[in-house]
Amino acid sequence: MITADETILTSARENRPTMLSVHNLQMRFGGLSAVDGINFHVKEKEIFAIIGPNGAGKTTVFNCISGFYKPSKGEIVYGGNDIAGQPSHKLARKGIVRTFQNVRLFRNMTVVENLLVAQHAQLNTNLLSGLFNTSRYRVSEQAALSRATFWLNKVRLRDVANREAGNLSYGQQRRLEIARCMITHPKLLLLDEPAAGLNPQETVALDVLIRDLRETCGVTILLIEHDMRLVMEISDCILVMEYGQPIAEGTPEEVKNNPRVIQAYLGAADE
Ligand SMILES: Nc1ncnc2c1ncn2[C@@H]1O[C@H](COP(=O)(O)OP(=O)(O)OP(=O)(O)O)[C@@H](O)[C@H]1O
Ligand SMILES: [Mg+2]
Repeated sequence: MITADETILTSARENRPTMLSVHNLQMRFGGLSAVDGINFHVKEKEIFAIIGPNGAGKTTVFNCISGFYKPSKGEIVYGGNDIAGQPSHKLARKGIVRTFQNVRLFRNMTVVENLLVAQHAQLNTNLLSGLFNTSRYRVSEQAALSRATFWLNKVRLRDVANREAGNLSYGQQRRLEIARCMITHPKLLLLDEPAAGLNPQETVALDVLIRDLRETCGVTILLIEHDMRLVMEISDCILVMEYGQPIAEGTPEEVKNNPRVIQAYLGAADE
């Protein structure tokens, strides 16, 4: 049952500008339909979650949106253009960045080096000015370092700034991955299971961090997550997938009480 409060929430959502629209997305691998007819709209500055059982097609949707896969069919509209099939580096420059289900960092580089490398493509310099160590190069390097320091503080990694990324705890690596994305000033941040492998305290800290990113940086967040408590607490809207298809969409309250969802996912998680 939809309450009066939820009706107000739903219409408030409708009135907000759209950041990303996915229309009839399909992704086939040979005979397998990993994603089959997915539609959704993400509003500016919202936290939109995609949930569903293992193998439902969630990461495949992310791979399509972030340019790692070219969809078999469908449109992905961002900034007024269909971006389906554009390469990930081009989409990163347009403000779409992501983390990975299995953390991907430069494991042999230090934490701060990971944050400096992430900014490399954006630094307003070229190789020659670097070689000749021009003042313009030094200024932009200094700016990159102060941005790195800002993010080290924000994700609480200042104390381990000079440690190799591969030696960090799992929770620290996940926070570094988020900082590495955020340091490029994205508009749309895709987080693939950011709470996986975190202990309860780290998950609470992640909850606070994700909300803070939205509030202070104005970033829109698309989230895949199996931790139901986190998802239900921070999401504005949730899409539920099963076998590549949508089975429900709505507010946490609507999704939580949907019998099909309980049967497909939440029921299975409680067993
Ligand atoms: N590159 C690929 N080649 C072939 N099949 C793939 C490929 N990527 C994904 N799949 C298949 O597509 C289906 C959806 O996979 P996907 O990783 O998107 O699921 P998921 O919802 O993210 O699952 P999980 O919760 O376990 O991460 C699975 O059956 C998977 O084996
Ligand atoms: Mg996945």
